[in-house]
Amino acid sequence: MKILLIIGGGIAAYKASELIRLFRKAGHQVTPVLTAGGAHFVTPMTLAALAESPVYTSLWDLKDESEMGHIQLSRAADVVLVCPATADLIAKMAAGIADDLATTLLLATDKPVVIAPAMNVRMWLHPATQRNIAQLKADGITVIDPDDGAMACGEFGPGRLPEPIDVMAATLAILPGTGRWQPAGLTEGPLQAEPPLHQAALGPPALTGEDLTGHHILVTAGPTHEPIDPVRVIANRSSGKQGFAIAAAAAAVGARVTLIAGPVSLPTPGGVARIDVETADQMAAAVEAALPADVAILVAAVADWKVTPSPVKLKKGDGAPALTFSPNPDILATLAASPDRPRLLIGFAAETNDLVANATEKRIRKDADWIIANDVSRDVMGGSHNQVHLITADGDDPWEVATKEAVAARLIARIIQTLHAKTPLT
Ligand code: C5P
Repeated sequence: MKILLIIGGGIAAYKASELIRLFRKAGHQVTPVLTAGGAHFVTPMTLAALAESPVYTSLWDLKDESEMGHIQLSRAADVVLVCPATADLIAKMAAGIADDLATTLLLATDKPVVIAPAMNVRMWLHPATQRNIAQLKADGITVIDPDDGAMACGEFGPGRLPEPIDVMAATLAILPGTGRWQPAGLTEGPLQAEPPLHQAALGPPALTGEDLTGHHILVTAGPTHEPIDPVRVIANRSSGKQGFAIAAAAAAVGARVTLIAGPVSLPTPGGVARIDVETADQMAAAVEAALPADVAILVAAVADWKVTPSPVKLKKGDGAPALTFSPNPDILATLAASPDRPRLLIGFAAETNDLVANATEKRIRKDADWIIANDVSRDVMGGSHNQVHLITADGDDPWEVATKEAVAARLIARIIQTLHAKTPLT
């Protein structure tokens, strides 16, 4: 992927160097554009060396214009990333002002634009900035929300630039290679086939030496089938795509992956050990047998109930069968209470209503560390895209709509960051 990286003028500009290093290491091309403000914090020389690319700074630089006009520059990339995006740059973008190279490129581009705002907490919370952010979102620009925390200016609150690895994951999570705008909130549509994003985002070479080598990741995926008789089952619509994408993304960064799959028709991702099961009881037994694991990601849509199957095929002539249901084991809750509890236990919650409230309650009740919640009232099951919320002890983090591969890549990036952070899991 080709990334045009616009670096605004703020203390967080120093993180642009790390961001370039991460993109390059993952096999992407970066063309840096440095604003006049950005040049106070980071030098073109550093950026050029890391990006192995010319650094563009001025609209009026004839040499740049003769080499590559600003229109061409704005369109040669697959995505335009503004990082850090200052309050001033955001305001100019919202107003359509083009008074330097960066803002001219932003107005001229026909490619998706992602911005990573970073500024003082009061500047971020100011109604003018929030108004401008709302305008940019309405214009179809992807906004990576700033983190909460201590700021360089001594204040505390939202406004910090997220870690470069999260900025990279969020950037790569937008439609790669399609070269078209993806308005926020779009959940369906005639989307073009995309390369498997986990490979583009996280696949070899590994990220910064901080990958999942040496870690065992357990993933459950797909539906379960609960037999009624020798030929009939109670099933659900889970396709297994999201769980398989997660298993693939984990394997791509060096993890030993055990994928316990219900009945699905998907190929086994490279480097993944797959165990096929049919029922919830079989899935529970396979999970137990696969322990210990460092991380368990339970994506499977496990049937809550089973029936004692008839040993012979039920006959129409015998009338409507009286099915007696009994509960299936809750694999997630069992794993949470197990002495072999994985260090990071992640569940999924498919909800049709009160998404965040239900998922938050589920996280606490089942004692999971994280819950990935998605709204299945939309066309998610079997589809290629997903819009999820990451629910942690810190609350709700809504992610932009993305391919299931991109959601997987972002989740794995977040897991890597958490496992390497040596801080309490949040
Ligand atoms: O309660 P609900 O089925 O919505 O919970 C969903 C989460 O719990 C998913 O992570 C799913 O894999 C897991 N689960 C489970 N065993 C069950 C039911 C759900 O592991 N019997």
